[in-house]
Amino acid sequence: MNRVLLGPTVRTAVKVNGEQVDVDHDARVTLLDFLREDRGLTGAKKGCNRGECGSCTVLVDGRRANACMVLLAGIHGAEITTVEGLAADGELHPMQRAFIDHDAFQCGFCTPGQIMSAVACVAEGHVSDAGEIREWMSGNICRCSAYPQITAAVAAAAKEMES
Ligand code: FES
Ligand code: FES
Repeated sequence: MNRVLLGPTVRTAVKVNGEQVDVDHDARVTLLDFLREDRGLTGAKKGCNRGECGSCTVLVDGRRANACMVLLAGIHGAEITTVEGLAADGELHPMQRAFIDHDAFQCGFCTPGQIMSAVACVAEGHVSDAGEIREWMSGNICRCSAYPQITAAVAAAAKEMES
């Protein structure tokens, strides 16, 4: 089922991982459903679908956002980055590499959201120590409790990204 074409439509233009997309869609469609069901970008996960778990985190104009809480119609002109857009030239983003190197996941469900949030966390400068990383990553829940490894991965990637 394509949920972006259910009812009366509005037109929204956004950039998704660098690609310009103009789409006619039901005005009630969320950014998360648009990404997953229209664009086939299933990295952002639908966990709670009500802004509580962070598994749907993407960047909207460089700032992290819970895609389940964002209406597509409200972000006309925005630039969206999903986890699928992080790797470049066949190379993983340093944050993706750090999550692998530090075993910062178990089931992996939360991981795309954790990585997107972590990338923003570094850009925001909230990585001075483990406590600050934990605080500013606290919107991303991991039901496998991989928090120590996630914190270590963010700290390691931050050093690489800032050097
Ligand atoms: S699915 Fe969006 S915050 Fe949980
Ligand atoms: S790795 Fe399983 S929810 Fe985080």
